[in-house]
Amino acid sequence: MCKLLFRLLFSLSIWFSFLAVPFAAAEDELPSGQLNASNVMLSSVTPKIIGGIDSSANEIPWQAYLNMTFPNGNGGQSTFVCGGVVISQDVVLTAAHCLRNGSDTVTTQNIKVWAGGVSLFSFSSFNAIDVSEFVIHPSYNSARFANDIAILKLATSLPSTAIPIKMTDSATQNRVDNAFDLGWVANSEREPNLLVSGWGATDPNNTSSGSTRLRQTVLSGVPDIACDAQWGSNMSPLDYPIFLCAGSVSPTLGRDSCFGDSGGPLVWQDPQASSDSDFGLRLVGLVSFGNGCAGILPGVYTEVANYQSWIEQEVGAAVNTQPTSIFASNPFTRDYSNAGEGLGSGGNVTPNSGDGDGGYIGGGGMLGLLVVGYWRRRIISIV
Ligand code: ARG
Repeated sequence: MCKLLFRLLFSLSIWFSFLAVPFAAAEDELPSGQLNASNVMLSSVTPKIIGGIDSSANEIPWQAYLNMTFPNGNGGQSTFVCGGVVISQDVVLTAAHCLRNGSDTVTTQNIKVWAGGVSLFSFSSFNAIDVSEFVIHPSYNSARFANDIAILKLATSLPSTAIPIKMTDSATQNRVDNAFDLGWVANSEREPNLLVSGWGATDPNNTSSGSTRLRQTVLSGVPDIACDAQWGSNMSPLDYPIFLCAGSVSPTLGRDSCFGDSGGPLVWQDPQASSDSDFGLRLVGLVSFGNGCAGILPGVYTEVANYQSWIEQEVGAAVNTQPTSIFASNPFTRDYSNAGEGLGSGGNVTPNSGDGDGGYIGGGGMLGLLVVGYWRRRIISIV
């Protein structure tokens, strides 16, 4: 379902065939042929985006950019783009849904990875990093977007401009949850306690509005219970450890991740480590899904702490114990004050408003989950 990845049009490019430029996005359940030469255009970057600002060079050095190419059934290929997160010089995390296109799973040789750059024009086939192996979480459930996480093991190391970020562990995640409880206010200003970044759509109504320059914004963590209530029983308390929700810092400012940002980083600053050389920046989530972008429902992210031991098992225990990274600047200190003006959801965030669900699926039983999956696909069009 929500394969909200961007497609690239390799065939039309002659000398740019090696450049990773996002052209348009689509859900994979849309009829094929949705994207073709006539409706694909180079993205234009508008100043009013989904509440973001341009990233400076080396500001988000843990951000990765991914291309996944799938045969399209007509003898050609479609390439989708996603974000990713550098957790060591040769390991990148992303969303599991980024590696699937309907029932197809990408092959290792059809994934390309870049990191350590800000402009997509600096990424070419000459500096793409290959993947030697990937692991999709064994419990990934594409109908519910549960366990939407995958590990990419790289064939060679990323350049030194790509710098790994530490993941939150479960003790830190408890403090994150507390911070969300304290920082979230339903219908007013909220604490800007999360940072999200990516090259994805900059206009919630235009899936081909990806940016060629990396963008970032600060969001506010939504407590699990509040997120659950807003989504209308699509989650259950059992899901709280795997999903994490983030919304705009104010109902009047439209801010969110969007199409093409999937798999990218959601970062929290640990106040107990803010004087460290990595400013205490911790990877708490991976962009997973939302109901459109920058609407009334919060974006939903994969909660990384829950997968730490699985990740360590897959790549070796060293990942989160490597020396503290040295980051050039702290992106939380940028001025975001007007980011997202004019794009706010325009109304109060009220539990269940506008989603038509009304909580008729209670309890989260198996039947409930199947209905939720169906309902999500048909009615809400999660992306
Ligand atoms: N699923 C999207 C992707 O594949 C990301 C959507 C995030 N949506 C949101 N409203 N936060 O790129």
